[in-house]
Amino acid sequence: MKGIVLAGGTATRLYPLTIVTNKHLLPIYDRPMIYYPIETLAGMGIREVMVVVGGKSVGDIVELLADGSAFGLELTYRYQSGALGIAHAIGLARDFVGDDAFCCVLGDNILRGRALADVAAEFEAGAFDAGTLLYQVPDPERFGVAEVDVHGRVVGFEEKPERPKSDLIPIGVYFLRPDAFEVIEGLAPSGRGELEITDVLNHYIPNGRLFTRIYDGHWTDAGTVPSLLRAAELAAADDAAGRLAPPTARPVG
Ligand code: G1P
Repeated sequence: MKGIVLAGGTATRLYPLTIVTNKHLLPIYDRPMIYYPIETLAGMGIREVMVVVGGKSVGDIVELLADGSAFGLELTYRYQSGALGIAHAIGLARDFVGDDAFCCVLGDNILRGRALADVAAEFEAGAFDAGTLLYQVPDPERFGVAEVDVHGRVVGFEEKPERPKSDLIPIGVYFLRPDAFEVIEGLAPSGRGELEITDVLNHYIPNGRLFTRIYDGHWTDAGTVPSLLRAAELAAADDAAGRLAPPTARPVG
């Protein structure tokens, strides 16, 4: 299985923190934000990872992560011009992915306390065509939101709805296969001018082709000032409990 980390976007919700630098370089407790999604993929046993970069200071991201060997990974990079959405960024990884299943993690998603090697292996070996992880949040209108039927099955996702139909959101971890690239090609931009990942997930709901699991660790994004703080608090709590390994990567050369 291959991995993708998305580290593009303009991060205007964090201005002035991100006027001159890339959101994914901001510190979350003792390491740069992008270490967390990189470690999430490494924890799945994935070795080949593409980092899709965009926005400010992309050279600093390459300088920081280098070839990935400090993380036990083989990294390659692609550049996304403009903030055209998560699905658009995934589309840039088509040649890199080839015929393999893959997992895409958003560069500002912090997952703690639950490794995902078993979930990744289950998806790779199974018959589902796509998958995502669900998490209960108090402010679902900020995210994609799941609509769930009386049997607890997901029947649709809406991106940032004014009136959320549940408090369950798809977090930024997506399990996909090369078939997703055809789906992305057929997408039209949303009202905010982006190719939305929730539209990709919706494509797979009919006929039970989408795999969903409740994420039973701790999760937050880090794309707003309050969530950036919450991310640091999650990492600090893990450190206090002896569950945060020291950052292993050291500057190269
Ligand atoms: C993105 C996705 C959304 C998802 C969220 C998780 O939103 O579009 O569906 O729930 O990531 O972090 P963003 O906050 O990047 O706009």
